[in-house]
Amino acid sequence: MCKVLTILVLVLLLTLTSDAYNVTLLKSLLSLIANREPWINTPIFVGHHTQSGNLNDLIIWLHQTMGVTSLTMNSFLQAEHLRPLGNFKVTRNNAIVLFFCYDRQDVLWLTLDRNLRQLRRIRLIIILRSQRSGSQKAIKSIFNTLWQYQFLNVLVLHRDQLYSYTPYPALSFFKLDIYSEPLFPPAARNFQGYVVSTPAENDIPRVFHVHDASTKSRKVLGYAYRTFVEYINHYNASLRLTNPDEDLDPTTSVNMNRIVQLIIDGQLEISLHPYVFTPPTAAKSYPLMIYPNCLIVPMRNEIPRHMYLLRPFQLYSWYLLLFAVIYITGVLYWISPKLDKRTRTQRLGLHFLDAISKILFISSPTTIHRPTWRHIIIFLQLCILGFISTSWYNIELDSFFTTIVVGEQVNSMDQLVRQQQKVLVKEYEFNTLLRHVEPRLVDKVSRLLVAVNASEQVSALLSFNRSFAYPFTEERWQFFAMQQQYAFKPIFRFSSACLGSPHIGYPMRVDSHLESSLNHFILMIQDTGLLNHWVVSDFNDAMRAGYVRFLDNVLGYQGIDVDTLRLGWCVLGIGWMLSALVFSCEYWHIYPWRFTA
Ligand SMILES: *[C@@H]1O[C@H](CO)[C@@H](O)[C@H](O)[C@H]1NC(C)=O
Ligand SMILES: *[C@@H]1O[C@H](CO)[C@@H](O)[C@H](O)[C@H]1NC(C)=O
Ligand SMILES: *[C@@H]1O[C@H](CO)[C@@H](O)[C@H](O)[C@H]1NC(C)=O
Ligand SMILES: *[C@@H]1O[C@H](CO)[C@@H](O)[C@H](O)[C@H]1NC(C)=O
Repeated sequence: MCKVLTILVLVLLLTLTSDAYNVTLLKSLLSLIANREPWINTPIFVGHHTQSGNLNDLIIWLHQTMGVTSLTMNSFLQAEHLRPLGNFKVTRNNAIVLFFCYDRQDVLWLTLDRNLRQLRRIRLIIILRSQRSGSQKAIKSIFNTLWQYQFLNVLVLHRDQLYSYTPYPALSFFKLDIYSEPLFPPAARNFQGYVVSTPAENDIPRVFHVHDASTKSRKVLGYAYRTFVEYINHYNASLRLTNPDEDLDPTTSVNMNRIVQLIIDGQLEISLHPYVFTPPTAAKSYPLMIYPNCLIVPMRNEIPRHMYLLRPFQLYSWYLLLFAVIYITGVLYWISPKLDKRTRTQRLGLHFLDAISKILFISSPTTIHRPTWRHIIIFLQLCILGFISTSWYNIELDSFFTTIVVGEQVNSMDQLVRQQQKVLVKEYEFNTLLRHVEPRLVDKVSRLLVAVNASEQVSALLSFNRSFAYPFTEERWQFFAMQQQYAFKPIFRFSSACLGSPHIGYPMRVDSHLESSLNHFILMIQDTGLLNHWVVSDFNDAMRAGYVRFLDNVLGYQGIDVDTLRLGWCVLGIGWMLSALVFSCEYWHIYPWRFTA
């Protein structure tokens, strides 16, 4: 009987202490922290297999002695009810998170991950079971898990020991004295050579490779690459390109879909290729720049040069001038004296010619002897009209010959549809693009989209394929447009048919340890003007490497040739034919109008 009782008591004691945590140490630690950096919220995560009964004492102590609130999370909470604690006004400065961790496989790690979204710099204290092995390997495995979730501001309590860790340059942990100051590691400003591995492909003008002929080595340029390298240097990290030997010729372009997928799968922590779209399962840095994403469209409908003769006046002005000729003919007929022996048709014909010469501002075929005041006033008015119309026409025409005159340009999605302008898009951006189109136009626009891979799209634009329009952000356009800066005749233009103003940032894993330092760095350099400087200075290198070229200026100056005046020749030819006809009629006395009359 006595034996049985002893065993029972022993078993009871064992279960009670089976997940004992050193709460004494935790309490003294918290009292110390309360004096240095007070807090008000205490989210407590209670791991699997842990009886929360043991914690009641701690919670009462927190409430009564420390005067802080607490919030308990355990493994019974449904995943869909988990919301980031940030939603409840828990910030990284006003809270300390306690995690009673059973082991590395504890399901509560996932809860912790969900609840502490965007709160990775919060103070976190992990309390391990005293029964757990205290070996280096066992402790390290906990820190590996912490690093996997990117928690950095961490203390680990085990028995009577206190540990913390640093992932820079490689993960290592160390013992801490409870009285050491500061207890929580401060935000790292020196990554001690931590290696960031990421691929660099071609994504002109953000990142691109050039061969340095003098050193026979490969160089990476582009404003996004330079910014990233500056960041890496600033924080004393080091960059390792994962594709150093890949053969990248100028026509290739990075497949951002693949890179973002690698980030989501956890195989890549950050990409040095900035991008505009990231899914919610990945994060994006503070924007390097925000620019509208619009269509780069080919210049439209260049008008044949011989049609320039018609352009100075609109169609209605030409009608008005024609009417003016008839009207002036009538006026002149009405005011002229009918003294001479001419017939009515002869006089009408003469006044018609007179009216034309007035409009053309050339001398009149008739002479008027002893004009009346009425004559003088009317002829003065006609003189002014002739002067204005001819000078106006000449000036407009002159100015047209100094440039290229074009027709209607694509400036909206409606015009795109009307002109049936095909658009070359990356296949993985097809749906994103349609999301930015007005619903009523989606069907029509989707029929105009041609999906290809990124390389094909960029090489089509770089080879000036005018069959397509291309959706690109303005910063790329600034770069591409430098190719036609000296061109007499631009080939493409940046339309105002836009698809939103995305911000361009570096994609990275959610809650990445690089996020806050990178954001801070971008914020600092943005106003220095370096980004713009790099865009321009890289252009020369890109040209040497064969990505871009200046447009041929063959069009340049063009003299007026015979063909330019084609319309004039037509008028002259028809005039000669008419006058020859009239002359022959008069010569042989053939008057068809008299026979019919
Ligand atoms: C708890 O920590 C204290 C030191 O603060 C230590 O004296 C005690 O032995 C520890 N308890 C256990 C069970 O490790
Ligand atoms: C940068 O990191 C290296 C390790 O890669 C280290 O030796 C060096 O002291 C660090 N530089 C500074 C300024 O801390
Ligand atoms: C892109 O498409 C072209 C032709 O369809 C193909 O030759 C090329 O290999 C593709 N490139 C990539 C990166 O998929
Ligand atoms: C432009 O692209 C179309 C369709 O891919 C092709 O048929 C055409 O030859 C290309 N034009 C030039 C100048 O490359």
